[in-house]
Amino acid sequence: MKLDLSIKWETKIFFLSTLDQSLRSIVKNHGKSVAMIVDKNVWKLFEQQLHQVFANLKFQLIEVDANDAEKNLTTALTIYQDLFKNHCNKDTVIIGIGGGVTLDMAGFVAATYQRGLPFISIPTTLLAMVDACLGGKTGVNFQNSKNYIGSFYPAKEIAIYSGFLQSLSSHELLMGMAEIIKYGLIWDKELFFEIEKNLFSKNDPIFLENLIQKSLQIKLHVIEKDPFDTGLRNILNFGHTIGHVIESCSNYAISHGEAIAIGMIVESRLSLLEGRISQTDFDRIYALIKNYKYPLLLPKNISIDAYLKLLQKDKKASNGLACVLLSGIGSCYHKEKTYAVPILISTMETVLNWMKDEFKELS
Ligand SMILES: NC(=O)c1ccc[n+]([C@@H]2O[C@H](COP(=O)([O-])OP(=O)(O)OC[C@H]3O[C@@H](n4cnc5c(N)ncnc54)[C@H](O)[C@@H]3O)[C@@H](O)[C@H]2O)c1
Repeated sequence: MKLDLSIKWETKIFFLSTLDQSLRSIVKNHGKSVAMIVDKNVWKLFEQQLHQVFANLKFQLIEVDANDAEKNLTTALTIYQDLFKNHCNKDTVIIGIGGGVTLDMAGFVAATYQRGLPFISIPTTLLAMVDACLGGKTGVNFQNSKNYIGSFYPAKEIAIYSGFLQSLSSHELLMGMAEIIKYGLIWDKELFFEIEKNLFSKNDPIFLENLIQKSLQIKLHVIEKDPFDTGLRNILNFGHTIGHVIESCSNYAISHGEAIAIGMIVESRLSLLEGRISQTDFDRIYALIKNYKYPLLLPKNISIDAYLKLLQKDKKASNGLACVLLSGIGSCYHKEKTYAVPILISTMETVLNWMKDEFKELS
């Protein structure tokens, strides 16, 4: 299956049934030589298959640690040095193979090295397949803030091979599931109900592919309307305002998906407090996330003041606090098409106090 997206840029999405020659021809279309930035763990698992795909192509391998604490300018610098040492230039295509950490960094390097080399994204986690691979957001973390340095630089091609998911741990699958639940909450109540009815399994590739396609279609639709994140695209940040702060306060001991799961509960609570959703909807959202058995743990010893300070640094909050709220399951509240709406500090304090009472801290 192939989805075409044409906005200010062009990205093609391919669904591959095997890791084979079709991937090789996609790559060959974009450069004479290849620099492959690969998650170390993925390389260990799929080295043989990837070698076959790229046999006889001139490729340089750059292995990276898929770890948010390493998603920074220091790692980017090491990659630039490798590319420079190997004479990479405008004839080189950069391929990112891995989860969101690897793709964000590979995309950022592709965007900035010699002012941009063609970039191909090959996601290997569920989270990266439904979210990080699409939309052109590339970047690294900086000074305790998530994705603070970066650029919009969409991949020329995205190749999705769901076979990668077979080696993914149940924990990582759950992390991707958090983003799929988000799509149900912000856009598609039928998707939410489907997730409510069927607990997913990685042994059911058809169910997973169906979820991946539905999620990508929602993301495509949203970014087509707002490619540079000035309005509607903010809805993709539902759960992420609180989630990012939890993630960075824990120094990434709490992973993205775990933090987003809590973030979605807390931002739904905020939607309830602001009178945008009913108690029944809130209870249903909370129950679904609990049923999926997310750890729901908070970072240790973070005061309400510290949370508030970090929330004020959020990129959506140009002045004060702002958050995306739901207006029901499957839709977001907006005020004249502004989706990240201002939140009073006192309301945020109330919801953060609720959060601290409701969830335990990491031991
Ligand atoms: N750019 C975007 O639009 C966007 C969207 C969402 C998230 N993100 C970013 O994505 C990152 C999180 O990404 P992630 O959840 O994919 O985590 P990740 O990249 O850290 O990968 C998680 C773990 O899974 C392992 N792994 C990857 N593929 C595997 C496979 N097929 N089999 C076995 N193990 C495998 C990795 O080695 C790692 O240990 C965060 O940094 C977040 O900010 C970016």
